[in-house]
Amino acid sequence: MTFGFFDDEHKEYVITRPDTPLPWINYLGCQAYFGIISNTAGGYSFYRDARLRRITRYRYNNVPFDLGGRYIYLRDDESGQFWSPSWQPTRHDLENYTCRHGMGYTIIGSRYRGIEAHTNYFVPLDENLEIWQLTITNQRSKRAALSVFSSIEFCLWDAQDDATNFQRNFSIGQVEVEDGVIYHKTEYRERRNHFAYFTCSGKVETFDTQREVFVGPYRGWERPVGVERGRLANSVAHGWAPIGAQHVKLELEPGETQQIIFVLGYHENPQNQKFDPPESQTLNKKSVKPVIAKYLDSTHVNRAFEKLRQYWARLLGICQVETPDVHTDRMVNIWNAYQCMATFNMSRSASFYESGIGRGLGFRDSNQDLLGFVHMVPARARERILDLAATQLPTGGAYHQYQPLTKRGNNDVGGNFNDDPHWLILGVAAYLKETGDWSILDEPVPYDNHPGSEQPLYEHLERSFKYTLDRLGPHGLLLIGRADWDDCLNLNCFSDTPGQSFQTTTNKDGKVAESVFIAGLFVLAGRELADIAQRRGLAEEAKDYLAQVAKMEATIRQHGWDGEWFLRAYDDFGRKIGSKECREGKIFIETQGFCVLAGVGLDDGLAGQSMDSVNKYLATQHGIILQQPAYSKYYLELGEISSYPRGYKENAGIFCHNNPWVMIAETRVGNGDRAHDYYSRINPSAREPISDLHRCEPYVYAQMIAGRDAPTYGEAKNSWLTGTAAWNYYAITQWILGIRTSYDGLQISPVIPKSWRGFKATRIFRGVTYHIVVERAGEGNQVALRVDGVPIKGDIVPLPGDARREVLVQATLS
Ligand code: GLC
Ligand code: GLC
Repeated sequence: MTFGFFDDEHKEYVITRPDTPLPWINYLGCQAYFGIISNTAGGYSFYRDARLRRITRYRYNNVPFDLGGRYIYLRDDESGQFWSPSWQPTRHDLENYTCRHGMGYTIIGSRYRGIEAHTNYFVPLDENLEIWQLTITNQRSKRAALSVFSSIEFCLWDAQDDATNFQRNFSIGQVEVEDGVIYHKTEYRERRNHFAYFTCSGKVETFDTQREVFVGPYRGWERPVGVERGRLANSVAHGWAPIGAQHVKLELEPGETQQIIFVLGYHENPQNQKFDPPESQTLNKKSVKPVIAKYLDSTHVNRAFEKLRQYWARLLGICQVETPDVHTDRMVNIWNAYQCMATFNMSRSASFYESGIGRGLGFRDSNQDLLGFVHMVPARARERILDLAATQLPTGGAYHQYQPLTKRGNNDVGGNFNDDPHWLILGVAAYLKETGDWSILDEPVPYDNHPGSEQPLYEHLERSFKYTLDRLGPHGLLLIGRADWDDCLNLNCFSDTPGQSFQTTTNKDGKVAESVFIAGLFVLAGRELADIAQRRGLAEEAKDYLAQVAKMEATIRQHGWDGEWFLRAYDDFGRKIGSKECREGKIFIETQGFCVLAGVGLDDGLAGQSMDSVNKYLATQHGIILQQPAYSKYYLELGEISSYPRGYKENAGIFCHNNPWVMIAETRVGNGDRAHDYYSRINPSAREPISDLHRCEPYVYAQMIAGRDAPTYGEAKNSWLTGTAAWNYYAITQWILGIRTSYDGLQISPVIPKSWRGFKATRIFRGVTYHIVVERAGEGNQVALRVDGVPIKGDIVPLPGDARREVLVQATLS
């Protein structure tokens, strides 16, 4: 069953009924001002940081689902009937309801009693504001007299405080209303130099800024008293709950269309020019007024929307493919790339399932997210790498998370996840291969943001690597610390106290439990680092890294192989995890995927065996399960992983993030059929026909699909912010389609299904457009390349030494 359809030409998903199984959301904004918007206009906005600069209020985990948003009400002034064209919050039986989620915008609308109304919500590039462009048409045969009401609820900035210390907030809310503009200025009198504003292009008849006055005592958003009455009370909020609501009247002849533009924005004043006049407490509006005037003008709004479309066309145009599989094309060309933008911007902080309060940007997550986005915004990737590295600790270890606004490591979760530092090496390597910008390695970057501690970025990479070398365990594998990639494998936690955090509780000295996964990561990161060192002219260092890598590979073979697959870890008693000796949790996905993608066991058959075991024990129709058999009870020595009921999350869920590791691993052993088959099983577009089972959005990946041990096998959860986005993008583009960035040029090395005759692609790489045509001549993965008609040796297309900016690459597979 479906709830809409893909409109690939417009790069949109069109939802055709409002009651989707879960709110299906989109992101507005891609630079500093962001919003989340659901298919019924629910959601909220923030500037840079969903916790510290939240602009509008949202109540997560609410009933009914998804209430609070960018709501518009239409009222028929003759009959007094009113409704919301976005369905919520009034939930009328609308005709022709559609929600078009597109690239950075969402258009929601419907028809009700002959009145057609659509709102285009978007954030113009380079501005800290959002537009709601409302278009209303009278399709009745007679004149319509309507009232339009808008509404948003201001969050008093710190979302944490706003949800916990609201007794204070009930007394501090402040607004100003001037020329139809509602200014929200809570705490501006003291240390804030920023405020929010909400206004519209229509003539404001009446307004409200106090929630209780607008909504009415004991009423909800579905039946505000002001809307019912057809007139607002011009309330000015002093404390309690400041909102923005405006009332505009429209008279529409039959067939007539009119537009109203609403603008919600964030603005900062210089600290010494906060007030006007300076000795007053009145907001200085001098610099915001021109911005407001500009965007109340539809010419500017239309131009800004066109610019947004062009921006996305350009970004997505960097890599476009044409394969025999529509789901591959749609995800690569549109939605997967787009989702990578969201994960890059948000990390795991703000979605419908991440509250924007709990987590900042993850060190490991953000480094992995780079893999999916570096080709689109290399300059921002560079900035992100330097920000991340600046939170690194002098030991080479890392804070697990940092706050995007302050860019400081977040002590709530602290550090000691022993895989964290290695991801920086992978992030930097991906950046270097994409851009060839070696200067980044010489950038001075502090440790833990301490001025004076600056060292070249390269030194940070060295420390990352050494960090783990100093933490070898009894088998010569790597000590796990608090956890590795699997945050829930807490082998030093031993928590028996309710409410303790599994990630930060440590009851063991951590000298025994080892991770085979980190060993695999070490091999990959070590190889990347050696490559970088070599190219920096540090041949001795490079040799040294490779020697360490070889040693670790040997250790994995000796102590990390279980006979048919790679082990997962050793616990604090030195016992195996992920072994046939275990009663539960005999085989895990992470080490199979990661060791093989790092190249372990490619030469002696272990890799192939490991992949066959994945296929036999872990692969299901809905994706590859994290481990089997699922843990049926809580194991003190394993931690959070065994806290989940069977089939969910890290306890044998299909944790989509690590499925692409297996896809890449399959390409490394040359099995394109399996690689693409696994890719398709979790591809959201391919799962669209089972939307009623899958339940999350069919256009983006979710973190998890319930595994076969779960009663809700096949149901997805926690969509949007997941490492799944970047890794799938990387797996399909760079490994299955095999268009891979390398230091020396673009490598073309596809490992595609046998049944494919070939495919076409366009890839812009270091300023050159490569038109790639791949054709199958035989069933294998052997590549022969012709560049502009001339055969070349190997599979790397060197950058043209001349002025050519377009290159034709023909690849024949045999
Ligand atoms: C979540 C975390 C990520 C972790 C994964 C597995 O997705 O954001 O850092 O690797 O879970 O536990
Ligand atoms: C929880 C989640 C896990 C996530 C972790 C992040 O344990 O289950 O997926 O990685 O929190 O701190």
